[in-house]
Amino acid sequence: MLKMESKVTEHQEAVLDVLLEKVYRDSGYDFRGYRRGTVTRRLGRRMLTTGVKTYLDYMHFLDSHPEEYERFADYLTIKVSSFFRSPYTFKQVAALVIPQLLQSKKKQGDHCLKFWSAGCAHGEEPYSMAIMLADFLGEERSHYDIAIYASDIGSLDLNKLRSGIYSASDVEGLPRSLLDTYFLPEGDDYEVREDIRQMVRFFHFDLTSTLGQPLPGMDCIFCCNVLIYFQRQLQERVLEKLYNSLAVPGYLVLGEVETPTTTLLEKLECLDSKAKIYKRVRT
Ligand SMILES: C[S@@+](CC[C@H](N)C(=O)[O-])C[C@H]1O[C@@H](n2cnc3c(N)ncnc32)[C@H](O)[C@@H]1O
Repeated sequence: MLKMESKVTEHQEAVLDVLLEKVYRDSGYDFRGYRRGTVTRRLGRRMLTTGVKTYLDYMHFLDSHPEEYERFADYLTIKVSSFFRSPYTFKQVAALVIPQLLQSKKKQGDHCLKFWSAGCAHGEEPYSMAIMLADFLGEERSHYDIAIYASDIGSLDLNKLRSGIYSASDVEGLPRSLLDTYFLPEGDDYEVREDIRQMVRFFHFDLTSTLGQPLPGMDCIFCCNVLIYFQRQLQERVLEKLYNSLAVPGYLVLGEVETPTTTLLEKLECLDSKAKIYKRVRT
């Protein structure tokens, strides 16, 4: 009996491989290196919603409903986020990274600050980064040319992200002083202040892509709570890409439960192991 069950599982695994290949070939979305548990759970939910019973039937469903590829990508990527999601990390970035960064910029006579939120979900993270910088720099902000690049997989509506409109429940955890300073009430909602919105540049970018370096010379990259969905090999590939996008010095910030791979750890200096802040020190 046990043997039969494991046979069925093996067969399902094989069909799932074919399904993920098909999705990659037909849509470019590459979930082949995602953790299998996440894929089967999320796909299972989507199949329930569509009334499809087997992976094979779901492949037929994709053929007859091409718009389903977007839904599939949307279901497989978990977009839970919040403003200043990990307050300790933001506190430590403000305390450790920004002063060091400004000092080295001053030495180089460089006035550009380039940040990247890789896997930005609904924009809470890049807007938090912009608010953190605005709050830190105060009047001095006008001396700098600040760009916060914010990317996510293709299924997000960029215009919605750029509008910077959030519901009352989205901004619930924000300290009142930040809400009052950096947001404007918009009916029942809140709108991120225009000067903050202008610092953030949203674009679609799939981190699994094998195409060239997306953004070189980044001073600081946040890639939080994204790698946890990837298998080890994909984590390594993505981390290598992020590392190559960093300037020297450049700072990499990961999610609370994420760590760089051993190979990458050797190349980075750890600034705060709890806040998951790492520094690229070598060219
Ligand atoms: C749990 S959210 C984390 C959001 C934010 N970084 C944070 O920590 O609150 C994970 C994000 O990673 C994005 N993501 C997953 N796979 C991706 C990929 N291959 N390329 C780019 N973004 C991806 C998802 O769409 C989602 O927005």
